[in-house]
Amino acid sequence: MTKGLRKGLTSYGDAGFSLFLRKAFIKAMGYSDDALDRPIVGISNTYSDFNPCHGNVPQLIEAVKRGAMLAGAMPMVFPTISIHESFAYPTSMFLRNLMAMDTEEMIRALPVDSVVLIGGCDKTTPAQVMGAISADRPAIVLPVGPMLVGHFRGEVLGACTDCRRLWGEFRGGRLSEAEIDVANERLVPSIGTCGVMGTASTIACMMEALGLALPGSATIPATHADRVRIAEATGRRAAEMAKGDGPAPSEILTPASLHNAIVMLQAIGGSTNGVVHLSAIAGRTRHPLALDTFDEIGRRTPVLVDLKPSGDHYMEHFHQAGGVPRLMQELKDLLALDAGHVMGGTLGDAIKTFEDVPGQDVIRPRNNPLKKEGGLAVLRGNLAPRGAVIKQAAASPALMQHEGRAVVFESVEDMTNRIDNPALDVKADDVLVLRNAGPVGAPGMPEAGYLPIPKKLAQAGVKDMVRMSDGRMSGTAFGTIVLHIAPEAAAGGPLALVRNGDRIRLDVAARRIDMLVEDAELTRRKQAWKAPPVPEATQRGYAWLYREHVQQADEGCDFDFLVAVRQ
Ligand code: FES
Repeated sequence: MTKGLRKGLTSYGDAGFSLFLRKAFIKAMGYSDDALDRPIVGISNTYSDFNPCHGNVPQLIEAVKRGAMLAGAMPMVFPTISIHESFAYPTSMFLRNLMAMDTEEMIRALPVDSVVLIGGCDKTTPAQVMGAISADRPAIVLPVGPMLVGHFRGEVLGACTDCRRLWGEFRGGRLSEAEIDVANERLVPSIGTCGVMGTASTIACMMEALGLALPGSATIPATHADRVRIAEATGRRAAEMAKGDGPAPSEILTPASLHNAIVMLQAIGGSTNGVVHLSAIAGRTRHPLALDTFDEIGRRTPVLVDLKPSGDHYMEHFHQAGGVPRLMQELKDLLALDAGHVMGGTLGDAIKTFEDVPGQDVIRPRNNPLKKEGGLAVLRGNLAPRGAVIKQAAASPALMQHEGRAVVFESVEDMTNRIDNPALDVKADDVLVLRNAGPVGAPGMPEAGYLPIPKKLAQAGVKDMVRMSDGRMSGTAFGTIVLHIAPEAAAGGPLALVRNGDRIRLDVAARRIDMLVEDAELTRRKQAWKAPPVPEATQRGYAWLYREHVQQADEGCDFDFLVAVRQ
């Protein structure tokens, strides 16, 4: 098979000339013929001054290069776009598919024999993996690693669960302006991804379960020497994959590996975003996932990892307790250990080595789970015919069965403008409803599903209410919050028909979310419903492409033209 520089020659109608020209140009960088004759390990660079989560990427690239060269390959770095949660307007999710397209086409265009996908901040790794699956070149994931914990008034802090909790305290008048300013300096004390079981950590753990990343790579803190060492090891493995042809993502990603990723998602009390991203990843393979599969696996998978926002600890503690390989020892009977792995053998082979840390209390034994059932449940009902998701592990037990009056917000903007209005007619047992926050409606399905508790209720001490929307929420958030309602309101889903004062019933045990409104009345409302006007900003360019082609949440919000072609 053609390797290295001879791969994928630019079309000039003369292959010899194409190689001659390519070599002439690359020699301008000072490479020798020996270097240029080696198989090439591509390294995708997502460093950006706007992406502090990826602050260690330059150091990791150096270590990957060292590993690749020690194993006899030629490492070459190429850039892709970089997305940070707080620096993406209107929302990072809007850009995930763009990054997936960028990554796919760069892998396809460049003469790389294998590729190392370095990333971590929420949407990055899903986007990179989606692209790599479609390009189907041998690929290995290297997470950047979680940040360290912070300290404030004797408390341990982790972004972003504690960002939200402390902001809630400030809104409720229990923290002063001076105190919240100090907290702002302490919440993110180092580079790296969020230090709780948010989306970034969830996806990193799922990458180990999918067999796409080296064992242990999900949890090593971004600033530790071990993070650099695992980067070197990843470079070495990528070189072996470049020299030996694989495995490619299509050889690793099977129903068995997708099953393992769901077991992991449920056992860690992972982010609801894990459902959307894994659905999109599966959509790029020949093995699409049904939303109900998440629920079925969740019913027999306990939450074993005691991490915020579902529990008490932080990612660096999970790492010190043995990380994902140790967790997998507890989950062995639930996992498909014969699933493929980027190391070349099976998942079972990859997790044979693990550390058993005496006295640790972060990874619970099977006979003492944090929760008996998995962290996420899938709901259906007349409000969500194609499904909705709730993170039951981070919800209030008292609200898991609840009936209340709907208080409806038409859009994220409407919610922002009215939620704190003292005149808002809202009580603690009401259900806050946000619509037009879905993939098409917002657009981009922002993390607005974590509706704040109205200020007057927050000041009266209310900490949680039932909230529901067609949007998402950060994996670091908590509360009794129904998300990803499909179909979304802007696509004509029943969420568009709810009116202020309607009774809404949530029953997580029965997996139901319903509005208690007669069918005949819903039919009348449906006939009178008009789709919201198309915003001017989405009438051209990428925003137009997004609005026209994005799929609903239950399918992973990928573009319809990017999913795998299945005969
Ligand atoms: Fe980057 Fe949380 S903001 S992982």
